[in-house]
Amino acid sequence: MMEHRDFLSITDLSPEEIQQVFSSAQEHKRALPQQCLLGKSVVLIFEKASTRTRISFEVGVARMGGHPIVLTPQGSQMGRGEPLRDTARILAGYCDCIVMRTFGHDRVEEMAHFADVPVINALTDLLHPCQVLADCFTLTQRFEDLAGRKVAWIGDGNNMANSWINAAAALGFELALACPKGYDPDEAVLSAAVERGAKVRIVRDPAEAASGAIAVNTDVWASMGQEDEAGSRKGVFEAFQVTQALMDRAAPDAVFMHCLPAHRGEEVTEDVLEGSGSIVWEQAQNRLYVQEAIVEFLLRQ
Ligand code: CP
Ligand code: NVA
Repeated sequence: MMEHRDFLSITDLSPEEIQQVFSSAQEHKRALPQQCLLGKSVVLIFEKASTRTRISFEVGVARMGGHPIVLTPQGSQMGRGEPLRDTARILAGYCDCIVMRTFGHDRVEEMAHFADVPVINALTDLLHPCQVLADCFTLTQRFEDLAGRKVAWIGDGNNMANSWINAAAALGFELALACPKGYDPDEAVLSAAVERGAKVRIVRDPAEAASGAIAVNTDVWASMGQEDEAGSRKGVFEAFQVTQALMDRAAPDAVFMHCLPAHRGEEVTEDVLEGSGSIVWEQAQNRLYVQEAIVEFLLRQ
């Protein structure tokens, strides 16, 4: 096995390495990046739908001089049942990096175990580390050091919430999550983060979570793969909508954040999403630079 690093979780990078990624992302944002992927190929596997992640990775690899290749289950032997471990070894023989969006987190872990090249998690049911790293980069651009600041999460304890918990441990901000009972974040992610010193609190009252926060985050009430639960979840999450009244509880210069796609009138009102405190477009834009920096970092190891 060749030595290589994967990025399956924010915990795969040390706090110092995250700062390195942020400063290189800043450079990528300032000017066209160096052609560090010349002659290299990156395969992008999407077992779930994507707009932002797919296009930002595809464009980012091209901007660095590399060749991106998108693979979907329908268009490959993956959809006809070829074992993942076989696919992993074949792709690693052709490509220099594998980016994968899938369902169970064990699938990216299996890919990383069998592929002899860096594997990047482009979203699993458990985590969405590329998104949250880009979100934290976006916040540091506005507030500089996040240590000791308060960030709020309102809604489902999903893949995004779990990654925010990991980010809280790495970057030292306080995280308050307001989730309905029964929709808490992953217990193992939470307890491991608390052991690493994360200041994370789960509450039931959105106003309590938002109070004094510099950023109020939310996400869809039913994630990809939970489409059958969308109807029943609407009732459960009704009181967890991010409204202007909730934003008014946050710090005076607080921002609204959402990984997108958003469901206006469900998890967030139109006025908040389109309001002056919303940084959702900036977040999406920064995916490009932060992911470029992650690929560059992993291929340098
Ligand atoms: N936020 C995000 O990952 O968007 P896509 O599903 O469009 O990639
Ligand atoms: N929690 C959402 C995020 C989409 C980018 C999902 O997994 O569908």
